[in-house]
Amino acid sequence: MRLDRYLTASRMGSRSEVKNMIRKGSVSVNGITVKDPSVNIKTDDDVTANGRKVLYREHVYYMLNKPAGYLSATEDNADRTVLDLFPAGLRKGLFPVGRLDKDSVGLLIITDDGAMAHKLMSPKNHIAKSYLIHTDIPLSKEDSCAFSEGIVLSDGTKYRSAALEISADDPTRAIVTITEGKYHQVKRMTERCGKKVLYLKRLSVGELKLDPDLQEGMFRELTSDEIEMLSK
Ligand code: URA
Repeated sequence: MRLDRYLTASRMGSRSEVKNMIRKGSVSVNGITVKDPSVNIKTDDDVTANGRKVLYREHVYYMLNKPAGYLSATEDNADRTVLDLFPAGLRKGLFPVGRLDKDSVGLLIITDDGAMAHKLMSPKNHIAKSYLIHTDIPLSKEDSCAFSEGIVLSDGTKYRSAALEISADDPTRAIVTITEGKYHQVKRMTERCGKKVLYLKRLSVGELKLDPDLQEGMFRELTSDEIEMLSK
């Protein structure tokens, strides 16, 4: 792979920025300064830029705590999108894995890895997703049973069995776990039980949990253990 490509793939800067870096003599490969951006290197070569080791990563993975008011999209003419929460220099190739509604908050994975996104989104894989919900009216045991049996909407839409764990302290709070990702699914299932979702926060996707230290609107890279969890 060309050295300039290796450095852009490793998020060291835009193609022109890394070319300048290389031409200035700030990059070395296996201890030797290389000034030609087109030099071919291997992904396991030891590359340093400005004296710091470059970690080659083919893809990047971020955990975003999505705030309300942002679309789960890469661009939109009218609304802000979740990519607007990332600095321009990081945005290239990134997209959200799946969607949270504009008014929903919580865990959203942002990546440039299409294969991983496809795996997480594929309905065949039944990846569990859990959400904290607040409702306008207290939820009941009957609602939990209905979720578990599989809700069917009046238009015939069928949802797989889901868990509704109602808070013992406040029955307008519950954790919902679904294994599909249909449009407005949690809101529609809850509405079918005669209750309205007032607040919806995604807490987990598969084994990946929203970092409780991550403020709304903030993102961080996934750790290698977290990436591993998603790759299982
Ligand atoms: N279900 C919904 O209804 N909305 C979301 O944002 C996510 C799941």
